[in-house]
Amino acid sequence: MKAENVSIVIVDATLSPGQQRNLERDWNCKVIDRTGLILDIFGERARTKEGALQVELAHLDYQRSRLVRSWTHLERQRGGFGFLGGPGETQIEADRRLITDRIVRLKKELEQVRRTRGLHRSARSRTPLPVVALVGYTNAGKSTLFNALTGAEVHAQDLLFATLDPTMRGLRLPSGRRVILSDTVGFISELPTELVAAFRATLEEVAEADVILHVRDAAHPDSTAQRADVLAVLDGMEKDGTIDAGWPARMIEVLNKSDLLGGVSGVTPREGGIAISAITGEGLPALLTAIDARMAAGMEQAEYAIPPEDGARIAWLYQHGEVVKRADAEEAIHLTVRLLPADRARFEHGA
Ligand code: GTP
Repeated sequence: MKAENVSIVIVDATLSPGQQRNLERDWNCKVIDRTGLILDIFGERARTKEGALQVELAHLDYQRSRLVRSWTHLERQRGGFGFLGGPGETQIEADRRLITDRIVRLKKELEQVRRTRGLHRSARSRTPLPVVALVGYTNAGKSTLFNALTGAEVHAQDLLFATLDPTMRGLRLPSGRRVILSDTVGFISELPTELVAAFRATLEEVAEADVILHVRDAAHPDSTAQRADVLAVLDGMEKDGTIDAGWPARMIEVLNKSDLLGGVSGVTPREGGIAISAITGEGLPALLTAIDARMAAGMEQAEYAIPPEDGARIAWLYQHGEVVKRADAEEAIHLTVRLLPADRARFEHGA
């Protein structure tokens, strides 16, 4: 470590606070354990208010468990100072109280955010376009696919997302419809249980997605178990109301890395699934067509009467939906339109 001038060591295991401290002292550099690293990644990727709060809560909990009296304090006490609890211990206790207070406040804030969540969800107003979200195990190829699908076209409008958030980018489907493709944090096996809530919070935008792409590494020996893990987490989100029960109908299973299995013809996806290779690009046109079809399948028919002078709203409907019937009267233009549920919510909440 000296030769390589190492400044941080990441240990792929859970360290007790004592172990972490002893290693840091011994190696003279910062030591992070598995939980600490995962928390850092979640912290960077939590996008919603609820997600950020949830991750901070997990972080504080983790920190609180790290605040323990070191042996030196104990020894000092035993060594016979005239009073119990040296200055070190007092400091630790003060820190612990600060953290505990903060946790109590965070939990209240989280409750508050949750109470208003349903409201925001139905409006789906966070993004101006339909969202296609990528989920899947770490290393399944989500980022590679994300880049393969969006890399070629970076429109001026996308710069907004590019600068705000590198994990969201615009994409044009074969139908001409524009959507936002959104990458998420990868699933990992053996996620420490105290991090499950925080991880789920990073998946919140999946709940708002119009189409969910479940990216799988078809060549991975644990591919089937990984699939079950992903579905179980989404199922859990459905049970606690984070995601609505219709999510399986919005999901497309994407079997990636088919180049390692002799090309897409060598892979048999489940019904409705698509085999691709994000690296060679094979199967990507079929995937885009499938996304289009899935969006169309989820469309709902709605009827609106719009004053003729409200040209902007009429144009919006033509742009975002399929107008199947139109009747012009003097006082109103009656439109029957097929719209994505998300677009319908956007329109009815004043898009
Ligand atoms: P996380 O960010 O950890 O969640 O991973 P990810 O799902 O975004 O995976 P990523 O795109 O980083 O890809 C992981 C590895 O798989 C990289 O080494 C990619 O080059 C490789 N990979 C991705 N897609 C393919 C593919 O279609 N075929 C092959 N052979 N390798 C692929």
